[in-house]
Amino acid sequence: MLPPRTDFPAGFTFGAATSAYQIEGTAGAGPSHWDTFAATPGNIMDDSDGSRACDHLRLWPQDLDLIRDAGFDGYRFSTSWARVMPDGVTVNPDGLDFYDKLVDGMLERGLKPFLTYHHWDLPAALSSQGGWQNRDIAQRFADLCTTINARIGDRVASAATLNEPWCIAWLSHFLGHHAPGLRDIRAASRAMHHVLLAHGTAMQALRADGATNLGIVLNFETSHPADNSAEAEQAEQAAETQDAIYNQWFIRALMGQGYPDAALAGIGPHLPDRWQDDMDLIAQPLDWLGVNYYTRRLYTRNDGLWPHASEVPGPLPKTQMDWEIRPEGLTEFLTRLARDHTGNLPLYVTENGMASEVPTDDQARIRFIGDHLRATKAAMDQGVDVRGFFYWSLLDNYEWGWGYGPRFGLVHVDYDTMVRTPKASWHAFRAMLT
Ligand code: NOJ
Repeated sequence: MLPPRTDFPAGFTFGAATSAYQIEGTAGAGPSHWDTFAATPGNIMDDSDGSRACDHLRLWPQDLDLIRDAGFDGYRFSTSWARVMPDGVTVNPDGLDFYDKLVDGMLERGLKPFLTYHHWDLPAALSSQGGWQNRDIAQRFADLCTTINARIGDRVASAATLNEPWCIAWLSHFLGHHAPGLRDIRAASRAMHHVLLAHGTAMQALRADGATNLGIVLNFETSHPADNSAEAEQAEQAAETQDAIYNQWFIRALMGQGYPDAALAGIGPHLPDRWQDDMDLIAQPLDWLGVNYYTRRLYTRNDGLWPHASEVPGPLPKTQMDWEIRPEGLTEFLTRLARDHTGNLPLYVTENGMASEVPTDDQARIRFIGDHLRATKAAMDQGVDVRGFFYWSLLDNYEWGWGYGPRFGLVHVDYDTMVRTPKASWHAFRAMLT
């Protein structure tokens, strides 16, 4: 059961989230580094790419109807860099027209637009110039943001610069699971810094243009030591290093608290010269912080490359992604963030959701959402200022390296016919919100 809406304050935003590459289809966009990555055999579980995705480019009116009809207040969406600037620099007027129309479509349906400027579809031309390893990306990204802001900024409720910089930098340049698929500590370290530099540069440029209600979306994932055996201490250390890279690197820098020592131990030697000089620019004041939360992971120590952390399967019930379900971790992160980093800054749960193979009678998803909404409320009851909750995702969609197998949607998508069918979870939200 989902909790009653009245458990949350008036004005609390309920929404659904998506991202451009995962749903739009790439017609009319320039090539992105995700196209290149997906075209490399072995990178994507089902060898698929985002070329058709959910054909949202054509079917967006019905998708917005589905959001409105479920009773949501807001829609978190992203703009595609490769659509707005196909070669990374030159503006494509058709790309901007699409988002202009989309935002008007939201407003016509009474939905508040929550924009994310970049959710991973970097133009291939910029990737060829080093992408996030190249310091120039900061200015390129600021130009993207101001260009989009000039067109739709007057109508969006809020804007996030980036989605999940950990994925942009670490997952993509050190673990190699996302585009550009590198496994290189030097590339990763530079990306870890430049992604924040890009955020800070864009924030300054957007503020100079009068944009308001600006934030960033970070992902958080509990890191626990795997065992209590003889290696317990070493596992503890592995989990702590992992926590520093994943859960502390970005928020500490953004809040002017500096990079965490446990992460600098491995990343520091590879950072660009005089990186310290950028830290003030990175720590631009935020209006809100977005929190994406899905799971926790267990770690043991390994003797291989730093950070010497290997993941081992945990004992809790799991989703279709094999991710453990642990709602209390969301309460823990929201309270930990307020206590250690963000103080009174408003927080939003910008993503939470589960993948399940069940086509439409997704009772487990309803339980998952209910438990995570209650976990959000528990943090609010402890004084944390949480302003909204966005379910990931409106539709079944392209789950990056996993392809089309995992289904996160409140709405089932038949990828042959593109027919959308609301699942039981969509109806549960509707019963809660309307
Ligand atoms: C985080 C990402 O923002 C989104 O793109 C992804 O599909 C979900 N998590 C689920 O993995």
